[in-house]
Amino acid sequence: MGGVRQRRVLLRILSDITASVRGRFTSVGWRLVEIVILPTAAEVGRAAAAKIAHRIARHPETVLGLATGSSPLAIYAELAARREAGLDVGRVSGFALDEYVGLPTSHPQSYASVIRTTVTEPLGLDPARVHVPDGLADDIEAACAAYEAAIADAGGVDVQILGIGANGHIGFNEPTSSFQSRTRIKTLAPRTRQDNARFFDSLDEVPTHCVTQGLGTILEARELLLVAQGEAKADAVAAAVEGPFASVVPASVLQWHRSATVILDEAAASKLRLAEYYRYTYEHKPPFQRWD
Ligand code: F6R
Repeated sequence: MGGVRQRRVLLRILSDITASVRGRFTSVGWRLVEIVILPTAAEVGRAAAAKIAHRIARHPETVLGLATGSSPLAIYAELAARREAGLDVGRVSGFALDEYVGLPTSHPQSYASVIRTTVTEPLGLDPARVHVPDGLADDIEAACAAYEAAIADAGGVDVQILGIGANGHIGFNEPTSSFQSRTRIKTLAPRTRQDNARFFDSLDEVPTHCVTQGLGTILEARELLLVAQGEAKADAVAAAVEGPFASVVPASVLQWHRSATVILDEAAASKLRLAEYYRYTYEHKPPFQRWD
């Protein structure tokens, strides 16, 4: 078993090196953040799911990074439909981005429950292949280190699905999180607690702390795929992709990644200065680069 894992990790390292060398000489593999603007939230989910399904079809052992919250729900629903239609997800594994601290895993809003009910069960994934950070560990630091080790052991995340908070967070990396941060405990920003209160009976029930993959952890995923819908995200999206690379907008870390895609509905894209350019670029995308 150890030997098989080692071989997988080695093969991935080799394929990363090949991709980076190819990228250096042909500019394939290192590119701008790709921004795709679609008319509706439903189309955002379908397009993101198509991109992921395209990868799973070519690489059945794909490791997904899983976001929770409302933004990725349409992606998971579409992937479940594609699985019904024959997409083989039997060897896919997943690592959730984050978990609340102190919420029992049986609580319906724990991310262990949310991932089980929105991803693992509808997609029919093997539960042993789906991981969520431990927000109940006595030794949180050791649990965070073990989570990082589990991601590395799986060969790293291939496609990291991301939503974005109205304050620019990804995962629960709140503003001013270090770009090099790893999985760790964080204090949720008051704005985040307020935004997430809709999932609980009252604001008081929303935990104050979480465990989240760090920005450094997220940056190591081979592909980043951020989706955002609705006007409430428009300022954060604009700051993330067109503003300065600054830890006060944690999602601006996407600008540093070699393969990041941002899929938006019109409302979430409404504050982008270069929207017309992104539309033009997407319309003129060479066929070999398309996934839809
Ligand atoms: C949660 C996560 C967060 C959410 C963000 C947006 O796992 O990664 O960064 O993506 O808070 O939440 P929604 O999608 O509910 O607006």
